[in-house]
Amino acid sequence: MDKVRVAIVGNGGIGNYHFSHLVNFSDVELVGFADPVTSKAVDMKEKAGSGEAYSDFRQMIDETKPDVVYVCVPPYCHGEIEYYIIDKGLPFFVEKPMALDYDLAEDICEKAAAKNLITGVGFQDRYQDITDKIREFIAGRKVGLVQAAWIGGIPGVAWWRRMGTSGGQIVEQNVHLFDMCRYLFGEVKTLYCAGQRGIVDPEEYGVPGYNVHDYSSAVLTFDSGVIANIFTACYNKGIGGIPGSGMTINCADATVEYRLRSGIRLRTADSDEQFARQADQGVTEDRTFIDAVKSGDGSAVRSPYADALKTLRVCIDCNESIKTGKVFCY
Ligand SMILES: NC(=O)c1ccc[n+]([C@@H]2O[C@H](COP(=O)([O-])OP(=O)(O)OC[C@H]3O[C@@H](n4cnc5c(N)ncnc54)[C@H](O)[C@@H]3O)[C@@H](O)[C@H]2O)c1
Repeated sequence: MDKVRVAIVGNGGIGNYHFSHLVNFSDVELVGFADPVTSKAVDMKEKAGSGEAYSDFRQMIDETKPDVVYVCVPPYCHGEIEYYIIDKGLPFFVEKPMALDYDLAEDICEKAAAKNLITGVGFQDRYQDITDKIREFIAGRKVGLVQAAWIGGIPGVAWWRRMGTSGGQIVEQNVHLFDMCRYLFGEVKTLYCAGQRGIVDPEEYGVPGYNVHDYSSAVLTFDSGVIANIFTACYNKGIGGIPGSGMTINCADATVEYRLRSGIRLRTADSDEQFARQADQGVTEDRTFIDAVKSGDGSAVRSPYADALKTLRVCIDCNESIKTGKVFCY
């Protein structure tokens, strides 16, 4: 295909992020935008200078006949969109978390696999140049303990602050670091997670209806022998940015410090190197996915649905562990 015809379902924050990359790809034609808030779809159409705006994703798919669909809707809105896309036999890119119900995500995964569809999930951190450097650096080294943290504030979108619509901070946000741990250290063997509320006063923080955990700590063991402690918190206010977030990888003969989406420091007894992130991993992620669709070869996609499903499962299980005290053994 000369130009890949792309349609975007969900034209909010992350939909616009992908749009900002796709609109600059000369081999992509943006053909359709769908959002129940029609003004968002119309805005995108106007910015693109192409395509049509819709409130209903079915009508958009039927009328614009895309080659591929980006699904950029909130966590609680998945299911019928993916089933419709799969029914049409279209490859799709979907944002994390792919669903709040593991069984739903697993069923979508199976149905997409049965049709051999190329899929991609928005675990953008896998595409960072500094992630590649970490992988190269730790290859062949012995890694024991890992500390990882995503500690920040409460995002502005209203659906974020309720467990029923976002899945909570682990499932919606720190899922990125859980996924990066899987990408770096392999499969999870056991999991326990403790979580708490009590710091965030919904009135004081201006977040009516808030019921997600304020903070949690998960202990994961990996088949590789690595033990990771992953902190998650959203009660920081007024600091800005994400202070202290990232990962420290303690190797036998080296230490890796990863500052979330910004840089790394690699230290051994006789070397100390720092690298800032250069390439925009979101562009790489979208370029990789579009190239996969063009060639029909999905092997370069770093987070296909079936792999992302394993990360989703671990994060959903964290919530269950917080609730019941259960230790999960995989
Ligand atoms: N990969 C990343 O780094 C990253 C970053 C931010 C958000 N996300 C994920 O992207 C998803 C969306 O987040 P957001 O920040 O863009 O939210 P948002 O609320 O800004 O945008 C979501 C849009 O989807 C629309 N929508 C809801 N149901 C729809 C439907 N049936 N058909 C079409 N549109 C529908 C909403 O009206 C809204 O405009 C979430 O799952 C979030 O976790 C990923």
